[in-house]
Amino acid sequence: MTRKLYIETYGCQMNVADSEVVASVLGEEHYEITDNESEADLVLINTCSIRDNAEQRIWNRLDALKHNKKINPGLKVGIIGCMAERLGDKLTDNKLVNIVAGPDAYRKLPNMLSLADTGTSAVDTELSKEETYAGILPKRLEDNAFGGFVSISRGCNNFCTYCIVPYTRGRERSRDPEDVLNEVKALINTGHKEVTLLGQNVNSYHYKTGNTDMDFPDLLKSVSKLDTSVRIRFTTSHPKDISDKLIETIAETENICNHIHLPVQSGSSRMLNLMNRKYDRDWYLERIRKIRELIPNCGITTDVFCGFHDESEADHEQTLSLMKEVRFDWAFMFKYSERAGTYAATHLKDNVPEEVKTKRLQEIIALQRELSLKSNRADIGKTFTVLAEGISKKSDKELFGRNEQNKAVVFPKADYKPGDYVKVSVTDCSSATLRGILA
Ligand code: SAH
Ligand code: SF4
Ligand code: F3S
Repeated sequence: MTRKLYIETYGCQMNVADSEVVASVLGEEHYEITDNESEADLVLINTCSIRDNAEQRIWNRLDALKHNKKINPGLKVGIIGCMAERLGDKLTDNKLVNIVAGPDAYRKLPNMLSLADTGTSAVDTELSKEETYAGILPKRLEDNAFGGFVSISRGCNNFCTYCIVPYTRGRERSRDPEDVLNEVKALINTGHKEVTLLGQNVNSYHYKTGNTDMDFPDLLKSVSKLDTSVRIRFTTSHPKDISDKLIETIAETENICNHIHLPVQSGSSRMLNLMNRKYDRDWYLERIRKIRELIPNCGITTDVFCGFHDESEADHEQTLSLMKEVRFDWAFMFKYSERAGTYAATHLKDNVPEEVKTKRLQEIIALQRELSLKSNRADIGKTFTVLAEGISKKSDKELFGRNEQNKAVVFPKADYKPGDYVKVSVTDCSSATLRGILA
């Protein structure tokens, strides 16, 4: 009997990739994916715990699902991912949730569902040192997708003091390059034009068994050779581990995109030390210099957050000055949110007042908007190859896509369709988008 599965994903791209693993595992059990929530027999929510507001969104979503269960009492609801790992059976208190599965429990979902069928809730938050979902070919969920994600590692060993990920995802494991290459091949064979390799810290990828000894630049190189007309991206790079070898590999390989996402978190060495980031301001700036030297047209983006323990106005000023010095093209910007269970939660008091955090975040956002606008203005007159992703929201006569540097570009549709590479000359911009004509 075919049952219908509706799966909803929050959080980072690694969750997007994991939902595809889950879809594959449950596909074997005759679950068919639906994008219509109201016809689902099973609703799975893949969750994120990175900040408190990420979890609040999920709680609101669960409230809304109570209504679905009233209409369809047979409906099963499962919480998977990082919040499942963090809260475990606390999530079943509301009589709504039947299944709670952490990021390493997805192979066990079929058994957990059988248990849930008997009316007992099933909870599995065991983390594994080995699980890499070897041998499971993810079932791609977006059918018009021209781009796909492939996990190259799981977990994180860095224990930045503010961060919940090492607790929700467990220890770092590099996946077998064979599995990675097979997944990339499968994406290429189904017409994908862009592949993004994923890990919390892709630079620490290392796979060693028998005759194989591969680091991240080696893996990137092998992946890029599979089809040189397919673009390769990767995220996230940790500044402490980004090597010259990696920067050289990007510089010399045509189809590896000239874009590096390099989360800085703060511009103050004192803060970086409290965060246990294992690099300081000078190290970060030196790495940026190296990138600019070897890849002059490299897009550089970052993550930054304000209001961590004891952050002073002077520390904050350092963040603003570093942002100006680097001239980031784009940034994800946050306020510190204390996460129970982290080192900071017990040792580094969340002592910056909320209104100060808000003020600092506004300053960071305003500065980044200026920097993005400047960076985009500098592209006016240049021509880029853009991979078309879809029809522009504002006009069906326009397409949008991204250039190598990962900037969003809007341009006339003409005879092009999503999935095509298009040469576009930039004529105008805002802080968020480049606009152009066909070149
Ligand atoms: N592995 C990546 C980041 C993953 S989390 C890295 O090390 O760069 C994504 C971003 O969320 C982080 O880069 C950080 O900017 C932010 N973040 C993580 N924990 C946070 C917290 N407790 N409060 C606010 N922002 C946080
Ligand atoms: Fe979190 Fe740090 Fe690991 Fe990134 S590197 S996931 S911020 S602990
Ligand atoms: Fe969130 Fe987990 Fe990713 S906490 S950011 S979904 S690894």
